[in-house]
Amino acid sequence: GNNMDNFEPKILALCCHYCAYTAADLAGSMRLQYPPNVRVLRLPCTGKVDVDYMMKAFEKGVDGVIVAGCLEGGCHFQEGNLRAKKRVGLTRQVLAEAGIEGERLEMFNLSSAEGQTLAEIIELMTKRVKELGPNPLRNGKRTPEEAIR
Ligand code: FES
Repeated sequence: GNNMDNFEPKILALCCHYCAYTAADLAGSMRLQYPPNVRVLRLPCTGKVDVDYMMKAFEKGVDGVIVAGCLEGGCHFQEGNLRAKKRVGLTRQVLAEAGIEGERLEMFNLSSAEGQTLAEIIELMTKRVKELGPNPLRNGKRTPEEAIR
């Protein structure tokens, strides 16, 4: 036991409007519990996220990032989610080079009906990041609260 027991990770969930964001809404309306330390941001498509964007979130102090897009073959902008998958892979490499665990970032694919799945993804990532401890970049000037606002 140490002060890590009290560590509440700040997680940013970048959710595609067509699937994960709807699933998040559904999870809410089904009253599925997911931790309050997760900030859900809606994107028109996961194809919008790039390496810089994800790195900025970490630089600002979030402890983990979820990218949640449509099922492969189901992206409304052709291959946005495949592009996102590549960029998530690249960002994990950049993180590793900066001495930050790549597992703090992961992409998931789901449909809009999967509220339960989304709740589980959030739970999984919260648990994983909790075990990893705070993002080493957290010591910057900005607080995680500011980072995910
Ligand atoms: Fe959902 Fe592209 S429209 S990931």
